[in-house]
Amino acid sequence: MQQAGIKFKDFKRVVFFTGAGLSVESGIPTYRGQGGVWNEYRWEDYACERAFRRDPEGVWDFHEKQRAAAAACEPNEGHSIIAELQRLRPDTAVITQNIDGLLQRAGCTQVTELHGSLWRLRCPRDREVHEDFSIPLASRKCDCGAYWRPDIVWFEDPLDNNALDAASDALSSCDLLVSIGTSGAVYPAADLPRIAMAGGATSVEVNPDETMVSHLYDVTLRGPASKMLRQMFE
Ligand code: OAD
Repeated sequence: MQQAGIKFKDFKRVVFFTGAGLSVESGIPTYRGQGGVWNEYRWEDYACERAFRRDPEGVWDFHEKQRAAAAACEPNEGHSIIAELQRLRPDTAVITQNIDGLLQRAGCTQVTELHGSLWRLRCPRDREVHEDFSIPLASRKCDCGAYWRPDIVWFEDPLDNNALDAASDALSSCDLLVSIGTSGAVYPAADLPRIAMAGGATSVEVNPDETMVSHLYDVTLRGPASKMLRQMFE
């Protein structure tokens, strides 16, 4: 169903579920489709624990490039509208698969990061996690001698239980779910919107293209994130 009439003000509790498409208007490529990261790079070489064990320098070269690219981009109007709604209505939940940190840079204070963050490092040996925004990194290794690992949920990694719990809590108590810019190709994240749907929330997909999960949504808004969010914010 196409419906232009969905407005945030008509709902009590909104949850955003976002993917790479939200950051396209900032200049960050998606993962799949034309120009997608996984068309240029094999994730098996750069985005899984096995690759990191085999070639930590190569995996870090890839991630340092992604950090530099994300740092050079600015949040777009879509990020800002989400942040503004969360500012006006603090119970607005934001669940993202994005690792670029742009929602936080736009002013979102509560973001559930399902797939981790480019801006956090984790020591695989002593489990220490810390934020680091330096480009390039001062060191790719912890004081203990082990390579820092990007605190990212790579392919074949389990999702963090706390993030999953926070996401399910928010999804089970919302009356509007707005899914933005995700292909719905990556599980288990792609299944999470079903929690809101099962709870009776109105579900909206924002995406210029049809996806493999479009049929699940009550409303599909075909267009770029910023324009569709602006219409809903009015
Ligand atoms: P994908 O690259 O799979 O999908 C991006 C979606 O954004 C596509 O459906 C596009 O049609 C849509 N899109 C493009 N431009 C848009 C725009 N201006 N406004 C709105 N939507 C737009 O990205 P994800 O679904 O986020 O994992 O991918 C899921 C996960 O796969 C990512 O989190 C990533 C990747 O491996 C990690 O980074 C760990």
